[in-house]
Amino acid sequence: MNKEKFTFESKSAEATIAFGKQIAARLKPNDVLALYGDLASGKTTFVKGVNLFYHADQTATSPTFTLINEYRGDIPIFHIDCYRLRHPDEIIMLGFEDYLNAGGVVLIEWPERIEAHIPQNCMELHMKHTGKHSRQIDVYIPEKRSVK
Ligand SMILES: Nc1ncnc2c1ncn2[C@@H]1O[C@H](COP(=O)(O)OP(=O)(O)O)[C@@H](O)[C@H]1O
Ligand SMILES: [Mg+2]
Repeated sequence: MNKEKFTFESKSAEATIAFGKQIAARLKPNDVLALYGDLASGKTTFVKGVNLFYHADQTATSPTFTLINEYRGDIPIFHIDCYRLRHPDEIIMLGFEDYLNAGGVVLIEWPERIEAHIPQNCMELHMKHTGKHSRQIDVYIPEKRSVK
């Protein structure tokens, strides 16, 4: 799947939240967004921005025990964190396939842990530390979805 790439340089957590709002504005129900990046690269911070865009009733948090958080907003936001997953098939048993067709947006942290289950045509973010408060965010958008 050909994906168009662009890069956003974030200089603060607030800028990453604002970027999350901007990207959320491009999403449609049932879209999947794969969030790659090391610990503290800003994946959950980005999801906070998505929640703000959709007027969600909760702010995004890193789930301690749950793998899947659902936030109620204008459309449902399914926030999946695969960090603690023991086996990729565990996510299937938790109803992953149903979340893909539930009319919400699906945001996945540590998608590499469930690579085989990630839809090929999903949008991808790759987040990297470039300094204490700066992050490079590479965005890959499937070409058929391009709005440029
Ligand atoms: N430019 C930035 N973008 C995102 N987070 C930042 C940035 N600068 C500093 N931070 C801080 O880095 C941490 C990122 O945490 P979090 O979003 O939970 O990361 P992850 O979910 O990738 O593990 C937060 O404490 C946040 O305040
Ligand atoms: Mg996180």
